[in-house]
Amino acid sequence: MVHGTLRMMETVVSGIRPTGNLHLGNYFGALKNFVKMQNENTCYFFIADYHSLTTHPTPADLHGNVKTVLAEFLAAGLDPEKATIYIQSELPETAELYLLLNMNAYVGELERCTSFKEKIRTQPDNVNAGLLTYPTLMAADIIIHKAHKVPVGKDQEQHLEMTRTFANRFNRMYKVEYFPEPQAYNFGEELVKIPGLDGSMKMSKSDNESSAIFLADAPDVIRRKIMRATTDTGPTAPDSPKAQAVQNLFTLMEDFSSKETYEHFDLLYRTCQIRYGDMKKQLAEDIIKFTTPIRDEILRISSDEAYISKVARLGAEKAHASASKTIREVREIIGFRKF
Ligand code: ADP
Ligand code: TRP
Repeated sequence: MVHGTLRMMETVVSGIRPTGNLHLGNYFGALKNFVKMQNENTCYFFIADYHSLTTHPTPADLHGNVKTVLAEFLAAGLDPEKATIYIQSELPETAELYLLLNMNAYVGELERCTSFKEKIRTQPDNVNAGLLTYPTLMAADIIIHKAHKVPVGKDQEQHLEMTRTFANRFNRMYKVEYFPEPQAYNFGEELVKIPGLDGSMKMSKSDNESSAIFLADAPDVIRRKIMRATTDTGPTAPDSPKAQAVQNLFTLMEDFSSKETYEHFDLLYRTCQIRYGDMKKQLAEDIIKFTTPIRDEILRISSDEAYISKVARLGAEKAHASASKTIREVREIIGFRKF
């Protein structure tokens, strides 16, 4: 008999869209947490390829990107023995739950979603129904495994709020306590947002590639990108506030360099002695130190197609075991055929 408290294993779910190589924002906002969480939770991590169809990729791009992200998941330390790693479209139960959730999702609330409004602005020629219902598909991903925690970056907060709304609405509608309320999660105190090199607030692979440093970037590429990062002409008075682009470099330095290095350059800035070139050189080397081991693993794993495909197959099987149980129960709650 084992004494002591028996902690219930919590269920963790998260996904990343296969829209290209993973960058530092994806790593700190999401992947780093995935790797930590796999040791103490029941984890499901997937590649959100259904979601990526909202931007109409070619079959070749889609196929290549799914493989890339899968290899990068593994290179960053995700372990298929510990976590269930799968491809969203290989779990058709997600699509069924999405259909069911759409019946209780109101067009008004979907239209008010910030990411939808943003897409109307950035891709006005392709405002498809998949974009409008992006949050219900994401909710289906999460609650198909009855998740408690969802490791994501700050930009996903509203989608999580909507997921809770849909889960609670289902519970209320059918007078059941079925779906738990999933929470956005980061190991630190707060959700993370890694800024872009172009002065933008968020490093992003889908919006502007030159703003992003990829885990797979070669050292020279990283040096070049950082040396080209946006700055200004420098402070002209002591203790001047930092322009957004300059602040972004300092934020990156806070994340990747030692405290002493950060304080050194911060002092130079505050006393108007900063030379951005020196700061950038240091930042590039610190980032390269961090990315090099991951990049080596990416190169190694990418060439092992048999292994990647085995991971996907095993993941789909494990994900199916969990999702099919949920769908069976949901169908019964809704009142589909029992006879
Ligand atoms: P992107 O925005 O680059 O297209 P995704 O939307 O597929 O990437 O994001 C996948 C995960 O990475 C999500 O959890 C998202 O919150 C996180 N993420 C993306 N960019 C950043 C960033 N700059 N800072 C922190 N987290 C981020
Ligand atoms: N919407 C997320 C993004 O753009 C990706 C995603 C799809 C996701 N389904 C999810 C994240 C479920 C967490 C849980 O980054």
